[in-house]
Amino acid sequence: MLTLGIETSCDETSAAVIKDGAEVLSNIVLSQAIHGRFGGVVPELASRAHIKTVVPIYRQALEEAGVTIDRVGLVAATMGPGLVGPLLVGLTFAKGLAFANSIPFVAVNHIEGHLAANYLEHPDMEKRHLSLIVSGGHTLLVEVDGFGSYDVIGQTKDDAVGEAFDKVAKIMGMGYPGGEKLDKLAQSGNARFHRFPRAMMKEEGYQFSYSGLKTAVALHIGKLSEGDFERQKADLAASFQEAAVEVLVEKTIRAAGERNIRDIALAGGVAANSRLRSMFAERIDKNRHRLFWPPVELCTDNAAMIAAAGYYRYRQDGPSELITNAVPYLRLSEM
Ligand code: KG4
Ligand code: ZN
Repeated sequence: MLTLGIETSCDETSAAVIKDGAEVLSNIVLSQAIHGRFGGVVPELASRAHIKTVVPIYRQALEEAGVTIDRVGLVAATMGPGLVGPLLVGLTFAKGLAFANSIPFVAVNHIEGHLAANYLEHPDMEKRHLSLIVSGGHTLLVEVDGFGSYDVIGQTKDDAVGEAFDKVAKIMGMGYPGGEKLDKLAQSGNARFHRFPRAMMKEEGYQFSYSGLKTAVALHIGKLSEGDFERQKADLAASFQEAAVEVLVEKTIRAAGERNIRDIALAGGVAANSRLRSMFAERIDKNRHRLFWPPVELCTDNAAMIAAAGYYRYRQDGPSELITNAVPYLRLSEM
C-alpha cells in the first residue's frame, strides 16, 4: 500500500510517498528561507509560505515516486504538536485531498513521526527500545514497547536542546536555525577549552534542562572582547556542544542500563549532530546495547516519517475522522 505523507508543522513544507510503511519512494522537503532574517520562525509568514508551496510539493512527491493519486491508499498528515496556522494548512489540504479522492485519512503526532523515522530505516530494531527524541521543540526520553505504546521517562524542564543550539548559534552570529552550522564549526574546535555546566547530569531520574547552559554561554561570551571571541569561536562552539550532548548521552545510556533495554534509537533534528553520534558510539557498551539513528534527511522534519507513523497508526486504529483538528500542544500519548 502507498501512503502519502504531508508535514507542515513548522517551517518545512514536505510531502512524501512510502510503500508498505517501509520503502521511501519520494521525500520532498522545502525549508522556508524567509525566517532567517528574523532570527526565528514567524508563524504567520510560515502559514502563508505553506499555502503557496503545499500543492507544488505534493505534486513533486507524486511525480518523483512515479505514481498518481489514484494509486495512493492512505493520506497521512501532521495534526500536532506545532504552530497552529502551519499545521492547519497541511492538515486541511490532506483531509480535502483524501475526501475528494475517497482515500482514508490518518492524523499523525509529529513526535511519533520522529520516532517512526527509525522504523523506516531499521526494521531489525527491537519492538521494545529506548528512543531519545531531540529537536528544536522537544527533548524526550521514551521507553517504547512497540508502536503506540510509550512511557515518557524524561523530558526537558525548560528549553529543548535544539532550541539551545539555535540560541547559542544566534549569539555567535550564525543566523537561524544555526544548529547544523554550530556542529560544523565545533568540528574544528577544542571541546575541553571551557567547561560549561552539565545541568542535572548527576541527578537521579532522566530530566533535562537547557536554559541554564544557554545563559552560561551568553554570559561567558558577553565578557569577551571581539578579538578574543573571534579567536575562540570554534573552541566555544565545541565546548557548548560537548556540554549539551554529554547529558543526553549519559542519561540515555544510564536509562537503558537501569531498565535493561538493549536497543537505543536517536531521532529528531539534533540526532543529526555529529558529536551526539560519536559520543554515543564511544561510550556505549556494544556488548549490551545496539544504537540506531536515521540518516540526516530523516532526522530533521520531513514527510516520510509522518507517512511511516501514519501507516502504523492506521493499521492499529483505522482512519481518523475528517473533522480532526490541529492540536498545537499535542503530547506523545494523547492520540
Ligand atoms: O526535528 P526538527 O527538524 O524540527 C523540530 O521538530 O523542532 O529539528 C530542528 C532542530 C533545530 O533546532 C536545529 O538547529 C537542530 O534541529 N539541528 C541540529 C543539527 N541539525 C539540526 N542541532 C545540532 N546539530 C546538528 N547537526
Ligand atoms: Zn520535528
